[in-house]
Amino acid sequence: MGSATKTLKKTMAETADRHALYQASVQNSEFELEFIETTFKELTGRDPRSMREDFCGTAITACEWLKRHKDNTAIGVDFDREVLDWGREHNVAKLTSDQLSRLELIEEDVLTVNTPKMDVIQAFNFSYWFFQERKTMIAYLSRVRESLVDDGLLFLDVFGGSECYQTQKEKRKVDGFKYIWEQAEFNAVTNELKCHIHFHFPDKSKLKKAFSYTWRVWGTREIQDILEDAGYSTSIVYRQKFDEKTDEPLDEYIPTMEGEDYACWLGFIVARP
Ligand SMILES: C[S@@+](CC[C@H](N)C(=O)[O-])C[C@H]1O[C@@H](n2cnc3c(N)ncnc32)[C@H](O)[C@@H]1O
Repeated sequence: MGSATKTLKKTMAETADRHALYQASVQNSEFELEFIETTFKELTGRDPRSMREDFCGTAITACEWLKRHKDNTAIGVDFDREVLDWGREHNVAKLTSDQLSRLELIEEDVLTVNTPKMDVIQAFNFSYWFFQERKTMIAYLSRVRESLVDDGLLFLDVFGGSECYQTQKEKRKVDGFKYIWEQAEFNAVTNELKCHIHFHFPDKSKLKKAFSYTWRVWGTREIQDILEDAGYSTSIVYRQKFDEKTDEPLDEYIPTMEGEDYACWLGFIVARP
């Protein structure tokens, strides 16, 4: 009886939901949306109301956007039906009928999608780094520019520093599990980076390669140059601040082109059409 129970009992990794773990460990919609709202107001003098979330995955950020103001509208774009369906079941299902009426989820490639002109288009968690060819990046950013209203803004995130250009593993404790970010292979000629997200659980079970990405590590200046080629009038870099005494990164981003030799830093690029 005892051994039968043992064989039937599933490990935490076997019962885990990788999208729920991703949302809990990687995404911080509230912080991102606050940054978007504050920066948009500073740069345009008004509040943004329409937002398109490219590479939206579970569309958690689009859903949260709808809750922040009764006139906010959102479009989420992702070409993967499985992740969109998960988002519909777990995030969209929690919206009120009014919020739901202001949301559109589109299952399509961001390179071909056609949407009305938006105040904000955002592509976070480095997903636009899937595009490895300069001409594809220009094509994507040009289409985005055409989908922004005249005083609209594009928000991208970036990371930099010597640690982007090497293999490494980074572990972080989250409520009830460990999140592991692995940069598994780096090509020093092409800047191609293969990375994985793994989750480890208190019962010692592991969900290996829950997510895998192959990106090109683009330099911040390179992306600014491409934005210029794609017709944007300006782009501003907001770099993460560091504590002056401890050198620990802070949750504060400042517009600056100054970067000490940080091993790893996060930032945003905000571009105007
Ligand atoms: C790293 S997740 C990003 C999720 C979320 N935006 C975030 O901030 O964490 C990347 C998502 O991009 C989607 N994706 C990758 N290439 C795409 C493309 N060309 N068009 C649309 N979606 C794409 C994948 O299906 C995946 O759901």
